[in-house]
Amino acid sequence: MESKKLAGEKAVEYIKDGMIVGLGTGSTVYWTILKIGELIKQGLKIHGVPTSKDTEQLAVKMGIPLLNLSELSKIDLTIDGADEVNPRFDLIKGGGGALLREKMIASISERFVVVADETKYVTTLGKFPLPVEVTQFGWEITKKQIERMGQINPQLRLKDNAPYITDNGNFILDCYMNTIEKPEVLSVQLNMIPGVVENGLFVNMADTVIIGGSNGEIEIKH
Ligand code: A5P
Repeated sequence: MESKKLAGEKAVEYIKDGMIVGLGTGSTVYWTILKIGELIKQGLKIHGVPTSKDTEQLAVKMGIPLLNLSELSKIDLTIDGADEVNPRFDLIKGGGGALLREKMIASISERFVVVADETKYVTTLGKFPLPVEVTQFGWEITKKQIERMGQINPQLRLKDNAPYITDNGNFILDCYMNTIEKPEVLSVQLNMIPGVVENGLFVNMADTVIIGGSNGEIEIKH
């Protein structure tokens, strides 16, 4: 927890008065959002754009004024966590189920800062199962189509013994693979399947990665 807090809190240094800030989802960016709340009480003037209903609730509680994505054409800065980050800054995201909104918001952000503890930094992506958001309609067919791509074992995500439902009313298939050699190729292939809404590979999107270490040190990678 301490290393997540270190990274999460450090990221607020990229926030300037007047910015529109994309607010990520998860237990690392949680600390960023708490810190932003403190800064707002001290006079910081920003607007946030939440990437999930959970983050929206937290941001409201912290007194962060919010904007709807539909009102915007760009976002100055987004801060978000990741499940895995490789040295090229490709990410796996969606462990918390918020990948679609996270990717939409990151895609219009001028700067995308990732906050993570050191366990998330890996040489090759893929140990963490890749979350893929799929329509409820015909999800079994989508699962088979993903299986047919080879070397992928998709499993329907469950919560309390029922399918997990995203903020957008979809299901998630967690895709077990072990290694992802070419994230840029896999991402395009997955998104070509009609029932796939979006996948959790964020390729060529992150600009800065802030890693919190268990030794209390912070590493910033550009
Ligand atoms: C949410 O869907 C995810 O993309 C999170 O950003 C990711 O799972 C990181 O979460 P933690 O910071 O809780 O590890």
